[in-house]
Amino acid sequence: MDTKILIIGACGQIGTELTAKLRATYGVTNVIATDIRKLNNEVVNNGIFEVVNALDYNQIEHLIEQYHITDVYLMAALLSATAEKNPAFAWDLNMNSLFHVLNLAKAGKIKKIFWPSSIAVFGPTTPRHQTPQYTIMEPSTVYGISKQTGERWCEYYYKQYGVDVRSIRYPGLISWSTEAGGGTTDYAVDIYHKAITDGKFTSFLSENTELPMMYMDDAIKATIQIMQAPLDQIKIRSSYNLAAMSFTPKQIGAAITKHYPEFKLSYAPDFRQKIADSWPASIDDSSARADWGWTNDFDMTTMTEAMFKNLKEQVYPH
Ligand code: SER
Repeated sequence: MDTKILIIGACGQIGTELTAKLRATYGVTNVIATDIRKLNNEVVNNGIFEVVNALDYNQIEHLIEQYHITDVYLMAALLSATAEKNPAFAWDLNMNSLFHVLNLAKAGKIKKIFWPSSIAVFGPTTPRHQTPQYTIMEPSTVYGISKQTGERWCEYYYKQYGVDVRSIRYPGLISWSTEAGGGTTDYAVDIYHKAITDGKFTSFLSENTELPMMYMDDAIKATIQIMQAPLDQIKIRSSYNLAAMSFTPKQIGAAITKHYPEFKLSYAPDFRQKIADSWPASIDDSSARADWGWTNDFDMTTMTEAMFKNLKEQVYPH
């Protein structure tokens, strides 16, 4: 059977670029992009788009039947900073949207699920450096608790019901085409915009807060790669550690100064500092590399070049 894809949360930071790549890879008519609102013109206009609430089981089931969907990418979620402000809704959205697609797969209506997890599954008691795949996991944020719980359910549905659900623990994701929304790592997106527009930036994380990060192109590559991998290569059914680089605000500032020598960086840590302090500084992703051949293409230097090139050409052309 041909692959027919449903993306839930297609207008978000990841969804936007994932939708474009999946349309290019599988054909425009084989990808159904959905979101709660028409938030992104390219996603809405460059292919099939439907307005969908990730919490509406019947609506999702109907679309799956209507379009003969085989694979679902569930990208809708409240991220770490936003979730702290609205814990009950974050829990509802992050958990029940996952249950909906897991149950649709259990009922035999879809074949495969991609569900993103996060470095937020780790917590203050986790070893911070080169955090292993299997380690202490006591997340202290609402978002982290929802992702950790989601991982447990993914593994359970795989073991009990044979549901083919695949997952990656994304680090902070940096991209130029769509704004990041509500995450603790978002400063590393904003800093590039502000370097171009203002020549200065105030970071909401302190100068030496090291976090794992990744350029969006690599994240999209990994997402499609894990979904295309033969079944026997997917040995972990909770979620795979994934890494590309780690840096602090001070280090990314220095990389930016190479392009904008006058760039000024200051620091005003807010409530997100505590979230960042509970997360790993770097990640051991050797399982993803060994099991399904993950490799990253971008490091901090090449990502910074790509970010400025794309932002200057596409977003701030004058
Ligand atoms: N980048 C996300 C956040 O900061 C982590 O998954 O919330």
